[in-house]
Amino acid sequence: MEQTLSLIKPDAVERNLIGKIVTVFEENNLTIKEIKKIHVTLEFAQKFYEMHSERPFFKDLCSYISSGPLVAIVLEGDNAIQKNRDLMGATNPSEAQEGTIRKMFAISIDKNSVHGSDSSESSKREIDLFFKQ
Ligand code: CMP
Repeated sequence: MEQTLSLIKPDAVERNLIGKIVTVFEENNLTIKEIKKIHVTLEFAQKFYEMHSERPFFKDLCSYISSGPLVAIVLEGDNAIQKNRDLMGATNPSEAQEGTIRKMFAISIDKNSVHGSDSSESSKREIDLFFKQ
């Protein structure tokens, strides 16, 4: 069993898509181990996304993710990290495959509805930030 962090981002929370996105996880054998709705501060967002601090989109990314409530979820299941990334689809929804969460729900590369940890190290770090501090 593996765990990963999923975020349902403010654009999806605002459009009442929490249930539809959680259903995708559950129908694909990912279990909700922890879940909470939270409005993060700009400082928290900057820490969460610190690996992107040199990227040109960093400022907009942090202000967007702290602009309204999001839902943080610990997902658990076999191969949960990769499975969640497959279910999300490509970062840019215009490149995402049919049936993926981002293809179905995302608005743009910024408002792309969900985040998922990309490795075992980042899942530990991200779960710790949202649920253990
Ligand atoms: P996420 O998986 O949350 O990780 C970092 C986020 O930066 C990404 O989703 C996108 O929403 C956002 N982003 C904005 N512009 C870009 C870009 N050019 N490349 C990658 N991510 C981007």
